[in-house]
Amino acid sequence: MRRPSAALLALLLAGVSPAIALEGPAPAAPAAPVAASGKPRVVIVATGGTIAGAGADAANSATYQAAKVPVDKLIAAVPAIAGVAEVRGEQAFQIASESFTNAQLVDLAKKVSALAKRDDVDGIVITHGTDTVEETAYFLDLVVKTDKPIVMVASMRPSTAISADGALNLLDAVTVAAAKDSRAKGVLLTMNDEIQAGRDTTKRVNIKPSAFFSQWGPLGMVVEGKTYWFRAPVKRHGTASEFDIDTIDALPEVAIVYGSGNMHPEAYTSAVAGGAKAIIHAGTGNGSVAGYLVDTLKDIRAKGVQIIRSSRVGDGFVLRNAEQPDDTYDWVVAHDLNPQKAKILAAVALTKPRDAKDLQRIFWEY
Ligand code: DGL
Repeated sequence: MRRPSAALLALLLAGVSPAIALEGPAPAAPAAPVAASGKPRVVIVATGGTIAGAGADAANSATYQAAKVPVDKLIAAVPAIAGVAEVRGEQAFQIASESFTNAQLVDLAKKVSALAKRDDVDGIVITHGTDTVEETAYFLDLVVKTDKPIVMVASMRPSTAISADGALNLLDAVTVAAAKDSRAKGVLLTMNDEIQAGRDTTKRVNIKPSAFFSQWGPLGMVVEGKTYWFRAPVKRHGTASEFDIDTIDALPEVAIVYGSGNMHPEAYTSAVAGGAKAIIHAGTGNGSVAGYLVDTLKDIRAKGVQIIRSSRVGDGFVLRNAEQPDDTYDWVVAHDLNPQKAKILAAVALTKPRDAKDLQRIFWEY
């Protein structure tokens, strides 16, 4: 019989039950490789936005120029970051995020994918404008095949404003990127103490720090340098995704048409003329289609362009074959994805030819 170890004896003397004692503490999760300092290594990739913004009047926090401050100054402005991780900065772009193009999305994803493959990188933070961070986050979630934390961060006020939110958001982002329990949770966004899922989150308010919401709630919070998790993502992402940025060099055109009363077919036909391979119908209610538009959309579908019904309504999800016979028309529903997220998923999915049945599978799974 094996002699009990001193550690085991100590546990037994401490009244720890033999079963636990023999079993011992759960084996530690494989520690992420760390720098000589013992700290995780985090790369901050900067793209611009308000977090890099500067304004003339501290009291007017909505009046400023986005995309002015370089990444090294962003890092230097938050000395507490050095206590969390070994950090270095890379300046990918310096733009306001409403100006992102598909080409820049692809470039950024390839850069992030290459960084994620490096043994000397444990986590990645991406500073970004708030306007389209939700699209970039979802795109990276779909095409970067890594379990390492990728954390988007933005701010609603420039660093020059009273009660600027960027510094704490950035510190929180580095904290999340450096935390082992952030792994395999998909691309994340830290804003206003919350950890949002990149897939789910959307900008719902355009003039205050608590701007981002998901109808399914945040994944967790980061408070005083600690991460607290309350739910996990359920849709495919990262290493579980069938999509890989290393096999994508360009994205097809996908157009969004915003639904309202008194619509005109030209809104759709002009999108097709502009080269759209799919149209996201941001319909009223349950992605409803006006009766006088149905023939136009059926004609467009017959030409091989995908029709995807999303909704202009913020929450809920579009039901298939409810008011519209999607099976009959060979249309797709965007499920709970808002129009801008549906556009990202459709563009990624259509980097390969697909029929509507397979496209609908993708909208159920991602
Ligand atoms: N110009 C918008 C952008 O860059 C807003 C700035 C911001 O909130 O980041 O997304």
